[in-house]
Amino acid sequence: MILVTGGAGFIGTNFVLDWLAQSDEAVINFDKLTYAGNLQNLASLAGDPRHVFVHGDINDQQKIATLLMRFQPRAIVHLAAESHVDRSIHGPEEFIQTNIVGTFRLLEAAYRYWKEQKGKTQQDFRFLHVSTDEVYGSLAKGAPAFTETHAYQPNSPYSASKASSDQLVRAYHHTYGLPTLITNCSNNYGAFQFPEKLIPLMIVNALAGKPLPIYGDGQQIRDWLYVQDHCSAIRRVLAAGVPGETYNIGGWNEKPNIEIVHAICSLLNEFRPADYHRLITYVADRPGHDRRYAIDARKIERELGWKPGETFETGIRKTVQWYLDNQNWLANVQSGEYRKWIETHYQGHAE
Ligand code: NAD
Ligand code: TYD
Repeated sequence: MILVTGGAGFIGTNFVLDWLAQSDEAVINFDKLTYAGNLQNLASLAGDPRHVFVHGDINDQQKIATLLMRFQPRAIVHLAAESHVDRSIHGPEEFIQTNIVGTFRLLEAAYRYWKEQKGKTQQDFRFLHVSTDEVYGSLAKGAPAFTETHAYQPNSPYSASKASSDQLVRAYHHTYGLPTLITNCSNNYGAFQFPEKLIPLMIVNALAGKPLPIYGDGQQIRDWLYVQDHCSAIRRVLAAGVPGETYNIGGWNEKPNIEIVHAICSLLNEFRPADYHRLITYVADRPGHDRRYAIDARKIERELGWKPGETFETGIRKTVQWYLDNQNWLANVQSGEYRKWIETHYQGHAE
C-alpha cells in the first residue's frame, strides 16, 4: 500500500480517486482536515477497504511512525500543505509550521522507518514530495520557462515555505540516502478545488452574480494544468522516477488571468445564459504578486514519457460543467457543513 498525506484536499482527492480507479493497491490517507480538507469528497469510498482514512497532523511524528510500522507502505506521496498564497500573506505562521516543520517531521519518520527495511523493500521505497513551480520565483516576459535547474527565488511566504521543504527533501536524499522524488508543478484546476483559488472562485461568484475580482491589471501569467494530468504525472514519477531527481510538471498552457476569467464567463454563458463578463472588477494587486510562471516539462516527457492529456479548452469545459453539476458540494463548502462530515459519516472508520 501507499501512504498519501493531504488526501482530502483538492489534488489529494483527485489523486486518491484516480489511484483507486486504476489499481487495487490500498491507500492510507493521512490528513489533518484543515478548512481545505473535505472528506465528503471521498464519500464514494466509504466502506471501501482499499481506503483507510487517518485523521492527523504531519507534525505528529510519533503518530506517523506508528502508522508506518503498522501498515508498512512501500511509498509516501506527500501532498499535505497550506497551499493558498493570499492566506500566506495574511498569516504565514501555519505555512511555516505545516510546510516546513511538518515536512521535516514526516521526513524524520520516513527515514527512521526506511532505515529499518531490508534489501529490495528498502531499495524500492519512495518518498515523493509534491511541490510547486512558485519556488522558482517570477519570470520576465519572453524569458525561458523554468527547468529543473532554475535557481530558487521564492517571493511569497507560501513559495518560500515550499522551497524550504524541497531543500529538506533534497538534503535527506543526499545526506541519508532516503530515496526521494520531487515534483514541481504549475497551477492546477479541476473538480474539488476550494473556491478561494482563481478558477473556482470566479465560477462561484459568477453564479451568485457577485463581482469577479481581478488583481492588478490581470496580465499575470500562470501555466494551467488539469488536475487529473497532474495526478497521472505523479503516478508516473512514482513508478519510474530516479531517486534524488526533480521533475517539473506543466501543461504547456500559459495564459494571463484575465483570459482565464473571460473563458469561464463565456462557458457559463453557454451553459446558463447571462452576461457574466460585466461582473469583472479590477481590484488592488496582491502584494509581491509574481508576474509570470512557466514550466518547461521536457524532462518528464523525455525521461518518463509523460505529457498532459487535456488541453485548456477541454479541461476548463469539464471543470465548469463539474461545478454546475455539483452545486450541493459548493453549498456545503461555502456554509462550512462539510466540516461536520467526519463526525457524522466516519465514526468507526477514521482513526
Ligand atoms: P489543498 O489546500 O487543497 O489541500 C491540502 C490538504 O492538506 C488538505 O486536505 C489539508 O487538510 C491537508 N493538511 C494541511 N495541513 C496539514 C497537516 N499539518 N497535516 C496533515 N494534513 C494537512 O492543497 P492542494 O491544492 O490539493 O495542493 C496539494 C499539494 O500540491 C500541496 O503541497 C501544494 O503545495 C502542491 N501544489 C498545488 C498546486 C495547485 O495548483 N493547487 C500546484 C502545484 C503544487
Ligand atoms: P491562485 O489561484 O490564488 O493561485 P497562485 O497565486 O498560486 O498562482 O491565483 C492565480 C492567479 O489569479 C494569481 O495571479 C492571482 C490571481 N487572482 C486574482 O486575480 N483574483 C482572485 O480573486 C484570486 C483568488 C487570484
